[in-house]
Amino acid sequence: MFISDELGKQQPIALITGANAGIGQVTALELAKKGIRVVLATRSEQSTQPLLDRIRQMTQSSESALWLPLDLADLASVRACAQSFLALNVPLRYLINNAGVAGAKGLTAQGFEWAFGVNHLGHFLLTRLLLERLKQSPEARVVTVASRAHLLALSGMNWDALQRTTQSLTAAKEYGVSKLANILFSAELGRQLVGTGVSAYSVHPGVVATSLWRHVPKFFLPILKMRPMLTAEQGARTTLHCVLDAPQTETGLYYADARVQSPSKIAQDLELARHLWEQSMQWTAAYAH
Ligand SMILES: NC(=O)c1ccc[n+]([C@@H]2O[C@H](COP(=O)([O-])OP(=O)(O)OC[C@H]3O[C@@H](n4cnc5c(N)ncnc54)[C@H](OP(=O)(O)O)[C@@H]3O)[C@@H](O)[C@H]2O)c1
Repeated sequence: MFISDELGKQQPIALITGANAGIGQVTALELAKKGIRVVLATRSEQSTQPLLDRIRQMTQSSESALWLPLDLADLASVRACAQSFLALNVPLRYLINNAGVAGAKGLTAQGFEWAFGVNHLGHFLLTRLLLERLKQSPEARVVTVASRAHLLALSGMNWDALQRTTQSLTAAKEYGVSKLANILFSAELGRQLVGTGVSAYSVHPGVVATSLWRHVPKFFLPILKMRPMLTAEQGARTTLHCVLDAPQTETGLYYADARVQSPSKIAQDLELARHLWEQSMQWTAAYAH
């Protein structure tokens, strides 16, 4: 048993995607230090085990951290992850949509462009399935890790391209589109949740030295490293700010350097956000029950 109902009421629970590495790993560890119980939703138990052990040892409790399998590139896996969480019958206070890929190419199990499918659509479905549970917690939050790379999506969303394999050489354009989708999703989520007690935040963590860049072509790396990269600890700062400190009233906004910032003009397009929401509802409909 991960946690009893009674404990769940006293100690908030956070579900963090991609918690086995980089920014997600630091986020989970820091939340656990604050007494928050963490559900680590990742692709591999083996790569998550060291963090599970560390948190359980640190808190002296086997109930302080739990692993759930999640492959965001397959909506059936996303549904199974949400169902496993719901079956625990415990409250959910914080959902942290952190996992992401950059530079990888291909199609997800349901035929979506890889970055869009993993970074946006998988998280869209996860949030959709966990929303009612979030609404049952006071002051619940959904924090979605986006990126300043949304600026690469200069012409917005090409709807046809979202259901084709990755076309660009570096996959940077597709990554930018997926991160634009993260911001639009969070803005629309915030708008729809006004009055429910759940607030939504999207985050740019900075340019951080993590394994995110492992698929990016070598010639791209010097551009990234023109300025010193942040550590994962520094990169987790804005996510942690949105989980723990940002006002509930600032819902739907975009954060960088632990404060509200303006994303691109396209990322503020409410019509586009609404349209993306409707499309994403349709694309995930078969997995939403
Ligand atoms: N690093 C930066 O400079 C930077 C800048 C802006 C935004 N971001 C965003 O920050 C977030 C965290 O990235 P990071 O820098 O911490 O990179 P990271 O160390 O590579 O972590 C990415 C995480 O996402 C997981 N992931 C990848 N594909 C997945 C899938 N199909 N299903 C489930 N999980 C999957 C990875 O799991 P595996 O270990 O199994 O691959 C890993 O846990 C991402 O959303 C990224 O876009 C990062």
